[in-house]
Amino acid sequence: MGAFLVRDSLFLLLLGASLTLAHNLNCQKSLTVRLGRDLSNTFNWTAEEVETCDNGALCQESILIITAGTRTVALGSKGCVFAETESVTFIQHSAPPSLVAVSYSNYCDNLLCNNREAIAQFGNLQLFSGSSVSTAFRCPTCLALGSCSSAPYLPCVNGTSRCYQGKLNITGGDMNVSVEIKGCTDMKDCRLMGRITTVGPMLIKETCSLQSFPKPRVAENGAAWPPISALGSGPLLPSPLLLLSLVPFS
Ligand SMILES: *[C@@H]1O[C@H](CO)[C@@H](O)[C@H](O)[C@H]1NC(C)=O
Ligand SMILES: *[C@@H]1O[C@H](CO)[C@@H](O)[C@H](O)[C@H]1NC(C)=O
Ligand SMILES: *[C@@H]1O[C@H](CO)[C@@H](O)[C@H](O)[C@H]1NC(C)=O
Ligand SMILES: *[C@@H]1O[C@H](CO)[C@@H](O)[C@H](O)[C@H]1NC(C)=O
Repeated sequence: MGAFLVRDSLFLLLLGASLTLAHNLNCQKSLTVRLGRDLSNTFNWTAEEVETCDNGALCQESILIITAGTRTVALGSKGCVFAETESVTFIQHSAPPSLVAVSYSNYCDNLLCNNREAIAQFGNLQLFSGSSVSTAFRCPTCLALGSCSSAPYLPCVNGTSRCYQGKLNITGGDMNVSVEIKGCTDMKDCRLMGRITTVGPMLIKETCSLQSFPKPRVAENGAAWPPISALGSGPLLPSPLLLLSLVPFS
């Protein structure tokens, strides 16, 4: 009889402990605003801070990565989030060649589960944008937090047909930054982000313009360049390319 009572109270104790765990989750907490070269390979996303969530919240880690020219910007948020379900989302908003935008978001329900360190698995962005084959066309190219201080005319890679100029305002998940982006692109609609306007808790507002390359002209060596329509028929991927998976990336 005595043993039975002990086992019952032990069971209640364990139940209480697991309820506490389920409702007051500890998550990594950080805000990342980084601009640089080769970020994908060198960047360590591990957060030093830990946050205790309110009842019913999950852990989240979300990041938006944009590459233009040789520069990459990474905007990331880790912390608690109110969400119903666990999920992992990877989206390629804009495909190579040239301007690339990808995002990753992970909502999870275990102690410190928002613990991704590396972002290299999201694609070698430098490889996408650093193609050596170039067209005769050039676009102002830059990537900056806030506004670009300069935007040199850089050669466009084969497969691009327009110059993109845009601004993204990113708010939410403790983020409030603006990014300016200019470069060559093959996008037909002015949508670096595709139709997606959120990355985890971050809300993204895009304002932009697109300009077609000038009409075909005769080059200095006398050879006529292919018409614009031919240039535009490069590898066009459906944009946005949406990959949704419940299995975390390894
Ligand atoms: C990232 O940083 C964390 C904490 O500082 C460290 O434990 C981990 O080994 C680092 N990862 C890499 C790949 O450098
Ligand atoms: C984006 O942010 C900038 C600077 O804070 C502001 O001037 C601009 O109006 C914002 N644009 C949108 C679409 O919210
Ligand atoms: C973001 O920052 C701008 C100033 O840079 C400010 O006007 C705006 O209210 C801020 N937005 C939020 C949501 O904090
Ligand atoms: C560039 O693209 C055009 C048309 O898309 C193609 O005909 C041409 O061979 C390409 N040039 C190179 C060097 O790949």
